[in-house]
Amino acid sequence: MDVYEAVTSRRAVRGFTDRPVPRQVLERVLSAAAWAPSGSNLQPWRAYVVTGGPLAELKRRAGERVVAADPWDEREYEMYPPALKSPYHERRSAFGHERYSALGIERDDWEARQRAAAANWDCFGAPAALFCYIDRDMGRPQWSDIGMYLQTVMLLLRAEGLHSCPQMAWSVYRQTVAEVLSPPDELVLFCGMSIGFEDVTVGYARTGRAPLAETVTFVEG
Ligand SMILES: Cc1cc2nc3c(=O)[nH]c(=O)nc-3n(C[C@H](O)[C@H](O)[C@H](O)COP(=O)(O)O)c2cc1C
Repeated sequence: MDVYEAVTSRRAVRGFTDRPVPRQVLERVLSAAAWAPSGSNLQPWRAYVVTGGPLAELKRRAGERVVAADPWDEREYEMYPPALKSPYHERRSAFGHERYSALGIERDDWEARQRAAAANWDCFGAPAALFCYIDRDMGRPQWSDIGMYLQTVMLLLRAEGLHSCPQMAWSVYRQTVAEVLSPPDELVLFCGMSIGFEDVTVGYARTGRAPLAETVTFVEG
């Protein structure tokens, strides 16, 4: 698979089969992803890969919190600015519309939206998950390094025939994740990532992208 194909075939997959992901494949992907760039080569990512019994336990604990309508954990970072201005607000609305209409959910059916969102904490059925932490001393440039690392992981997963879904949703239950993973206190959970083979029976709408001219400016001589 060439890089263009890896990039364009990667999407946030929200339905996985239970076919296990071999440990050696995950090791191959993560060994290659370690070549992702980072400022001064700090490599600020700390990844935990979870499968089998521990993942089942994590899903069970998170599922209990969903059912109990347990309040979310105190945030360690803000997922979005409090008021999204244009054009971000419109892009978020368009994404919500695309995502939920693909599932046949009406715009104002809040309960159905909540049920769909709850699938996050079952990793959309995936048999493997990665949880990406960063040292809390790190600043914005290092958080950006983490993004490059995670995209590298996701592209390499495509080369292995696997799919993924990055999930900030896990940060709202970060204490439950910590109960299962026992990370050191100095780490902050950025996001989870579901990993597995796509369940092709699950419907989806390909999310669009802004036209190039909205996000790229060529300054030419
Ligand atoms: C850092 C990050 C966190 C995300 N968190 C979630 C999440 O919690 N749940 C989810 O379903 N999708 C999540 N997504 C997926 C985005 O919604 C998705 O990437 C975006 O809508 C573009 O769609 P595409 O990846 O399918 O092209 C996240 C993506 C990123 C990069």
